Amino acid sequence: MKEKKKLLVLHGPNLNLLGKREPEIYGTLTLEDLNELIRREAEEIGAEADSFQSNNEGTLIDLIHEAESKYEGIIFNPGAFTHYSIALRDALAGVTVPAIEVHLSNIYGREEFRHHSVIAPAAWGQISGLGPQSYLLAMRALVKKDSMTFLPGDNLPEEKSNKKQTAGRGRHFESKTRAVRGAIDVQANDENEILEATTELLQQIVTNNNIVKEDVAAVVFSLTVDLNAVFPAKAARQMGWTDVPLFDVVEVDVPGALPRCIRVLMLLNTDRSIKEIKHAYLRGASVLRQDLQIAETATPYFSQK
Ligand code: DQA
Repeated sequence: MKEKKKLLVLHGPNLNLLGKREPEIYGTLTLEDLNELIRREAEEIGAEADSFQSNNEGTLIDLIHEAESKYEGIIFNPGAFTHYSIALRDALAGVTVPAIEVHLSNIYGREEFRHHSVIAPAAWGQISGLGPQSYLLAMRALVKKDSMTFLPGDNLPEEKSNKKQTAGRGRHFESKTRAVRGAIDVQANDENEILEATTELLQQIVTNNNIVKEDVAAVVFSLTVDLNAVFPAKAARQMGWTDVPLFDVVEVDVPGALPRCIRVLMLLNTDRSIKEIKHAYLRGASVLRQDLQIAETATPYFSQK
């Protein structure tokens, strides 16, 4: 079973007065009610959430520091500290745990002094004005973060994406190069069969791993010696991967190896961990590399035309 993500919910100053405090702005739910909603949401999304409230800047700073080793995401409503606490901003920037700044009210629709957040640049994102939903949506985003394909900074021209930016958010998007393996076999040394099978294999890898073309650093295709009707890289070019470096090689002729087999090694830039990479061994190749995670949709040999 997948381990539950641990989230820290921090409520800043005056949020202990929820329910009584300016209900026309903050609603009638008490802090207890809000924490109960948070608890239920956590249960629903398979996470664990610990909620704390403090009117004290130093206590909030300490809780953020301690979050480094204990939590995988912070949902933070800094209250009025939002607008001036550089110390809280620095605390968030000083830990690697991604944080989402949340507000019950829409701070941009209120007094001018609330329009500016000094915290936001150190946060992954901000949700403002959706009442308790601001917290609940932030929890969902943090739980899904590692599997999200389009993150801020993706696909921007190099000089704008500034992935090395240090204040808070930039650090969370640094990607690593990972490799996805895959293989498929065909029944004949036939151009169409090879291209169709290669397309099927690439699509399976792309779907299983939520890949967009811009994530792909390079693809190496290898063929058993009994296949030479066409270069499999052509299938990738037909999918529009014309600017991805592609390379075809012939494999060593090992006695007993699976015949008519096309193998793929795709190098990816991703923030996913090695364990989250899904390899794809289709058709007859599903007997290969049982040690690697086999795609759920792998189809048995001969079930394809
Ligand atoms: C708040 C907005 C802040 O401007 C204000 O000082 C708060 C609550 C909100 O949740 O809407 O205390 O963070």
